[in-house]
Amino acid sequence: MKNKLQNLKQEILERLEKAADILQLQELEEKYLGRKGELTLLLKEVGNLPAAERKETGKLANEIRTEIKQKLIEIKKKLDKNIHNDEFFDATLPGTKIASGHLHPLTQVQRDLEKIFSSMGFMILDGPELESDYYNFEALNIPKSHPARDMQDTFYINHKNKQGEYDMVMRTHTSNVQVRAMEKYGAPLRGVALGKIYRNEATDQRHEHTFYQIEGLMVDKDISIAHLMAVLREMFKRLFDQSANIRLRPGFFSFVEPGVEVEMSCLLCKGKGCPVCKRTGWVEMLGAGLVHPNVLRAGGIDSKIYSGFAFGTGIERLAMMKYGIDDIRLFHSGDLYFLKQF
Ligand code: FA5
Repeated sequence: MKNKLQNLKQEILERLEKAADILQLQELEEKYLGRKGELTLLLKEVGNLPAAERKETGKLANEIRTEIKQKLIEIKKKLDKNIHNDEFFDATLPGTKIASGHLHPLTQVQRDLEKIFSSMGFMILDGPELESDYYNFEALNIPKSHPARDMQDTFYINHKNKQGEYDMVMRTHTSNVQVRAMEKYGAPLRGVALGKIYRNEATDQRHEHTFYQIEGLMVDKDISIAHLMAVLREMFKRLFDQSANIRLRPGFFSFVEPGVEVEMSCLLCKGKGCPVCKRTGWVEMLGAGLVHPNVLRAGGIDSKIYSGFAFGTGIERLAMMKYGIDDIRLFHSGDLYFLKQF
C-alpha cells in the first residue's frame, strides 16, 4: 500500500507540473482528488487495512494529500499570473459608467435663491424647526388667544412650561427667524432664511403639510413697500429667467403693517388662464408687508428710527412655477420617474 501511494504521488506531481493551463489543472484535480478520484479511492482503502498497518500508512497518506494540495495551489498561482501577463488590455475602451444622482429640484431652487439673495447683500440665516411658542407666535405679535393662530395650526410638542402650557411647536413658517435675527444682528439687517416648516393641513394639488419656505427680512432707515417690490421683482426675474408682472392686494398677517399678498402673472399660461392659476392669469405667491413696530421692538430695534419689510413664500410653489409642475405632492413622493427629469 505504501508503495502504491508513493507511486501515485510521483505520477500526480509530474502531471501537475506539466499542466499547460488552468483548465488542465482542474481536470487533473478532479481525476486524482475528486469524489471518485484515484487518490481519494486509495485513501479510502487505508481504512480497511489491519490496525497495525493502518496507523503508519494513514499518516503517510495524509502527508501525501497535503503535499499535493499545496502543489496544486502553487501551480494555480503560477498559471494565473501567466494569464494576467498575457491578457490584452485595451486602455482606449470606454469605462463603465457609474450611476450618479443629482440634486432634488427643491434643493436646486433653494441654491438658486441663496445665490440671488447673496448677490443682493442678504445674509443666509438659519433657525430651528422645533421652535418655542414665543418666536413662532408671541414675538410676531400673535398672542395666545389671537385668532391668527388658527390660520397656521401646527403640531405641538408634548412639553409644558411652568404655567402648564404647551410651549414648543414645529414651526409653522420661517418667520420664526425674524426676531431671532434682529436680536442677534440688530439694525441695519438684510437676510433670508430657508427651511422646512409644518402645518396641520389637508393636502391637495397646491397644499402640503410639510413644505419649505424662504423668508426675507430687510431692516434699515426709511424702508418702504417700494423696496419690497424691487427686491421681489429681481428675485422673480432671476429665478424664472424672465420678467414677471407682480401685483399686490391687502392681506392680513399680525407681524406686518400694512400686510400684502403678492400675486405673480402665471408663467405657465402667460396670463391666459389655466388650472394652476384657477383661470385667473394670476398666482398667489407670497405673503409680505412692512415689519410691525411691535415685532421690531421684540427684536430690540427702535421702531422710530428703523423700518423694514418682510416676505415669506413657499419654495415648492416657486419650483412649480419654474418647472411647470401642477401637483405639489410630487416633490416628496420619492417617485424617481418624476425626479429624473430635473
Ligand atoms: C406665512 O407663512 C407668513 N409667514 C408669510 C409672511 C412672511 C407674511 C413675512 C408677511 C411677512 P402663508 O401662510 O400665506 O404666510 O404662507 C406663505 C406662502 O407659503 C404662501 O404664499 C405659499 O406660497 C406657501 N404656502 C402656504 N401654505 C402652503 C401649503 N400648505 N403648501 C405649500 N405651500 C404653502
